[in-house]
Amino acid sequence: MQRTHHCGELRPEHIGQTVTLCGWAGTVRDQSHQTFIDLRDRSGIVQIVADSDLDAGVFESLRGVKSEFCLQITGEVVRRLPGKENPKLASGEVEIRIENAIVLNTSKPLPFELSGTGVAASEEVRLQYRYLDMRRTPVRDILEMRYKLARETRRFLDSEGFWEVETPLLWKSTPEGAREYVVPVRTHPGKGFVLPQSPQICKQLLMVGGVEKYFQIAKCFRDESSRADRQPEFTQIDIEMSFVGQDDVLDLTERLFAHLMREVKGQEIELPFPRLTYAESMRRYGSDKPDTRFGLELVELTDLVVDSGFKVFTNAIANGGEVKAICAPGVAAYSRKEVDDLTEFVKRFGARGLATFALGESEIKSNVAKFFTENQMRAIFERMDAKPGDLVLVVADKPSVVAQSLDFLRREMARRLNLIPQDKFNFLWIVDTPMFEYDAEKGGFDATHHPFCLPNPEDMALMQEGFSSNLSLGDVLHPWAQVRAWLYDLVLNGFELASGSIRCHRRDIQSQIFQIIGLPEEVAQERFGFMLDAFEYGAPPHGGIAPGFDRVMALFAGIPDGNIREIIPFPKTSGGQDPLSGAPTAIPADRWTELGLAPLPSEEE
Ligand code: AMO
Ligand code: AMP
Repeated sequence: MQRTHHCGELRPEHIGQTVTLCGWAGTVRDQSHQTFIDLRDRSGIVQIVADSDLDAGVFESLRGVKSEFCLQITGEVVRRLPGKENPKLASGEVEIRIENAIVLNTSKPLPFELSGTGVAASEEVRLQYRYLDMRRTPVRDILEMRYKLARETRRFLDSEGFWEVETPLLWKSTPEGAREYVVPVRTHPGKGFVLPQSPQICKQLLMVGGVEKYFQIAKCFRDESSRADRQPEFTQIDIEMSFVGQDDVLDLTERLFAHLMREVKGQEIELPFPRLTYAESMRRYGSDKPDTRFGLELVELTDLVVDSGFKVFTNAIANGGEVKAICAPGVAAYSRKEVDDLTEFVKRFGARGLATFALGESEIKSNVAKFFTENQMRAIFERMDAKPGDLVLVVADKPSVVAQSLDFLRREMARRLNLIPQDKFNFLWIVDTPMFEYDAEKGGFDATHHPFCLPNPEDMALMQEGFSSNLSLGDVLHPWAQVRAWLYDLVLNGFELASGSIRCHRRDIQSQIFQIIGLPEEVAQERFGFMLDAFEYGAPPHGGIAPGFDRVMALFAGIPDGNIREIIPFPKTSGGQDPLSGAPTAIPADRWTELGLAPLPSEEE
């Protein structure tokens, strides 16, 4: 190696030793007879000092050093002068007196400042120069944590007897909902592969193949617009097991996360994780991925206000809707403008308005006071468990709008009122999710997760009943809307971390599922007949789960809003582009022709 030590590891115990270090120059301070340079490598920073009594050539070459020059220096480790220690640096008690230095490479002026924790540069510029961004400590820390997370995942699953098996990236269309990336194939004009949305079918085939316990840190591709917690290309900890039921998969996953929290975060967590049914989660939080680090739960007021004179409420109820509320502590004195702000906020999520009831020390204030008697309002406060000073925020609408707007409002109020403890890790399971969800546009049912989940055996009769039911498919009471799946989501602090299910390994049940989601048998056969065939050769009962590696990382790293771009080494922007390489870039016309495809004229032309 060209070095004997790392910068960040030097301590008083090294005093007197001559060391050779390699790294990058941070701040450079030239004083008349001395030059100070913060030399940085992956391990940290150490201060190096060039004195004018140094070889004149070396001294002069160091005076020309600028930020991010790449250096190799040799010198003696000495104690810093009293009072000159830097407690912010792990190596801050010592410095290196340079004896020799080589400038390994120079650097152009930087597009942005690399020191400090925050950067002024835009995300676009940081991603364009991601290799410089990575030299910043916070990004460097993230890369290390990401490596540890992968290492500890492998360690744990290995100790549990799992085999890591690779599955192909050039693959066949799978039915998981998102649009797929298509890979045209030169040697088969008009035909192509797709990039897998997940290794779902392959991992099930591995179970048919007798692998029993499979995992893979797998790349997945989904051609969907990126959001904070979504990327077109992302990573899953993909897991599948044979001869297991739901409790086995949940137990393994809980122990995996306990291990990761211990080894990567140094934090113990309590097992087992709480379980909420999908219905209860929707009722109490209006969401299937609730953040339970704070209260502000949704409370039903429908029965209390059904006899009020407020038409907005009574009409909503008459049309099958409901009235629910949250109680925001201590903000009864919110001004008209603040309430208007919140009203605009909930309107973004489909609500038509926001009714408020403020419980003062002695008086009650409400923007709909004229429609309610004092007793009715007192009953609302009592139901909400409101204390003097609290503000009750009410939405009336159809259940989906009430749920969505109060879910967002609940999280918004928690943020505004600082009710979210940052050091809490509230893992929980959502279980008993509906197997099918009605899609009004399609006029029929879809699989909530994917069509290979096993319906809860207790609900098999409902599957049958649905075929002869007189109710319309859109009716919430339709038997198919009642079927629960053996499907589970792992939620952490308001983010869906993982999804999984016990799979349907029986051909007859699988056919019924296809029928219910309106997938003709021929189409099913054409799309994944190869899998259905495989199931006819003694497929074992099996199930699995796939935690999103990037989301786990974002939450472990404490990235605000779970923005996974921050924790992916080379992410795409929110516009789905890579500012570093410029991809996606134009493909030359002859390549398209070769693939038997015609290029679309691009917008700039
Ligand atoms: P699902 O589609 O729910 O299930 O994905 C599982 C987990 O993967 C993560 N995830 C994403 N992360 C970043 N960007 C995305 N675009 C993205 N999409 C999903 C989430 C999610 O919880 N094959 C099934 C799993 C199974 O049943 O075993 C699957 O892919 O954290
Ligand atoms: P309006 O009758 O539309 O003037 O509304 C009177 C008050 O009721 C306003 O403060 C509205 O924000 C509120 N409001 C209107 N529609 C709803 C609704 N669907 N749910 C809750 N409050 C509402």
